[in-house]
This record gives sequence, C-alpha cells and structure tokens, in this order.
Amino acid sequence: MEFKRNILVTGGAGFIGSHVVRLFVKKYPDCRIVNLDKLTYAGNLSNLRDVECCPNYVFVKADICDYGRMQEVFREYGIDGVIHLAAESHVDRSIRDPFTFARTNVLGTLSLLQAAKEAWEGAFEGKLFYHISTDEVYGALEFDGTLFTEETRYSPHSPYSASKAGSDHFVRAFHDTYGLPTLVTNCSNNYGPYQFPEKLIPLFINNIRHNKPLPVYGKGENVRDWLYVEDHARAIDLVFHRGKAGETYNIGGFNEWKNIDLIRVLVKTVDRLLGRPVGASEHLITYVADRAGHDLRYAIDSRKLQRELGWEPSLQFEEGIEKTVRWYLDNQAWLDEVTSGDYQKYYEKMYGNR
Ligand code: NAD
Ligand code: DAU
Repeated sequence: MEFKRNILVTGGAGFIGSHVVRLFVKKYPDCRIVNLDKLTYAGNLSNLRDVECCPNYVFVKADICDYGRMQEVFREYGIDGVIHLAAESHVDRSIRDPFTFARTNVLGTLSLLQAAKEAWEGAFEGKLFYHISTDEVYGALEFDGTLFTEETRYSPHSPYSASKAGSDHFVRAFHDTYGLPTLVTNCSNNYGPYQFPEKLIPLFINNIRHNKPLPVYGKGENVRDWLYVEDHARAIDLVFHRGKAGETYNIGGFNEWKNIDLIRVLVKTVDRLLGRPVGASEHLITYVADRAGHDLRYAIDSRKLQRELGWEPSLQFEEGIEKTVRWYLDNQAWLDEVTSGDYQKYYEKMYGNR
C-alpha cells in the first residue's frame, strides 16, 4: 500500500507517545505511523491495543542511540516526518542515574537528527523533525505571577531538565547549521490515562485506592501547571501540520496547582468514586524529605500557540481529573500489569522473540 506520508513517532509506547500514535493512526489512515520504541520500563505496548492491528500502524523495537539502526529505519520506511518523544522522563530517576538521561536524551536525539539530515540531504522541502520538550528547561519561577515564554532563558536544574535542554539545543543547532527543518515545543506537566505510576497523579491514585501512604515532597508547596494529555496530543497534531520550522511553541493550559491542593482533590475524588466517607483517606498524606533541587514553580504562557495556530485546551481541570481518576479505577488490571512488571511480556506475545 502506498502511503501519503511516513511519520516516525519515537517513544510511542510511552505515556504521551501512545496518545499521539493513537490520534495519528485513527485520524490519518492514508499516512503510515511508525512507532519506534526501545521498550524501556516506561514503554508498554498494551497502551496501544486498540490500534495495533490497523494497516497504517507499524511497530519497530529499537534504541534511538543506535545510529546505524536509525539510518536503516529512515531508508526502510521512507520517513518524511519525525515526532520525537522518546526520552527518559522521570526527574527522580535522573537524580539517581544521570548517565542514562544524557545518553538517551542527548545522544539519542543527536543520532536521530543525524539520521534525518543524512536521509533528507538536498531535499528538506516538506520534511519536518519535531522535537517534544518540557517547560522544565526554563528552570523555576517564584510565586510572583510570571510565566515561562518562548523567550525565557534556559536554566535547567535537574539532570533530567539538563538533558532535555541539551537535546533542544542540538535540535536548534541542526536547524541553524544545516537548515534541517526542525521545531520544538515545550509543554507543562501532563496527566491522564496510561501514565506510568511513578509520576505523582497515577502513583497517588493507586496508593489511595490501596490505603498506602502518599509521600509529599517537602511541604507540598511546589506548583505545577497541568494539562490533559489528549490536549497535548491535539497540540502536537496542530504544530506538526501547521507549525513553522525553526520556531518554538509553548504548550500549557494556564492551570497552576500547588501539589498539596492537587493531592487533596485527588483524595476527595478517589474517596467519592470508591464510595468512602468524605476525607477517609486524608490520613495517608505523609510529608517526606524534599526532592533534591526541587523546582518551586512552573507556569507556561502558551498564548503564541493559541494566537498563531488557534489551539485551546478542551478540558477543564475538574473534568480532566474526574476522567483520569475514573480511568485508573476502571483499569486496575493495567495498573497491576505495570506494577508487577507483567506488561513487559506483551511484546513477546505480539511480536515473538525478536
Ligand atoms: P514516558 O517515560 O512515559 O515514555 C518514554 C518512552 O520512550 C517509553 O516508551 C520508552 O520505552 C521510550 N524510550 C526511552 N528510551 C528510549 C530509547 N533509547 N530509544 C527508544 N525509545 C526509548 O515519557 P512521557 O511522559 O510520555 O514523555 C514523552 C516525551 O514528552 C519526553 O520527551 C518528555 O521529556 C516530554 N514531556 C513530558 C511531559 C510529561 O508531563 N510527561 C511534559 C512535557 C514534555
Ligand atoms: O513539567 C513537565 C515535566 O513534568 C515533564 O517534563 C516530566 O517528564 C514529567 O515527569 C513531569 O515532571 P515533574 O517532576 O513535575 O512530575 P512528577 O509527577 O514526578 O512530580 C510532580 C510534582 O509532585 C513535583 O513537584 C514533585 C512532586 N511529587 C512527586 C512524586 C512522584 C511528590 O511530592 N511526591 C511524589 O511521590
């Protein structure tokens, strides 16, 4: 079958990547979506059960750091667009193991960029290398109402954000030096279905359900800006199709929450949906040692994306949280599979021992 476009999505078995792959496979049946993922602990092919049999979906198990393999993938599938999400994504892990973050996030991105440049050399027209980044590269804000804009100077503090900043710089350097058509978006904290339960929201929903302590770092006063993952996926679709190469767009829903306030909403929502008395699980809140270098506040100004490309988040936070809590409570089997490690057998079941 001849496809109109061949789009490589890296990290498509992860949290945000799986939402992007699902959206693209369903919305663009005339395009081939090649999901390339190493299937680290964070990659879970069962996130994509509903699209894995679609004729325009292909899965490739590979490491983005393997440059030779990236060259092959560009050739084999005639890739003409890249949406690059593959990364190590958890700040706490980066504090324990910064090398893995530098390798995957910096060297892996470089290997993909080089493969794209080589494959598209002399024919950059109509091609796009779109890199998904984070608001954490901008550093931390005070409680003064300021927001990160696309012009905010980079000031990463954690090994995770330093590695993402490094990858962003390489992406822009390939644009400025070689003319490779690249784009970067920097997004705030995502939440929703299929997020690995090491991150605040799914971890806490699961713990509340099982009456386990909720470890709040420091005083719980740090602020994060939350966006429903499907709204991020829609923004990615829009930027991929209408964004201008060489540009940066911030993505966020103007939705700042102090951690402790958000945690109280989670406790109330889970208790209510499980039919427990109001406040029954409040006692699970446990203040623990702060995260090293814990950034105080993130808040994104996404007006450029709204103004230039007409993007708007579709869900109010209350609605998004309700949907999210319901999803995790209704999908205990998914959580059990992930917490037990059984999900890692899914690949062999689907693709054999390759
Ligand atoms: P995730 O950890 O859920 O998924 C990452 C995926 O990348 C996994 O499927 C994993 O197997 C894959 N991967 C890791 N190393 C790889 C390698 N060497 N080769 C190929 N695949 C590899 O992450 P996520 O939360 O979905 O984040 C996706 C991207 O979005 C990341 O680049 C992250 O920095 C960025 N981002 C995340 C958020 C957020 O709130 N989660 C916000 C802004 C930006
Ligand atoms: O801002 C975008 C970033 O958001 C993404 O780039 C990252 O990939 C993503 O993991 C996320 O980073 P955070 O560190 O903000 O997310 P996390 O869910 O780990 O933590 C959210 C807040 O909750 C943060 O202030 C730390 C706090 N926290 C987290 C955990 C896991 C706790 O208090 N206790 C916890 O157990």
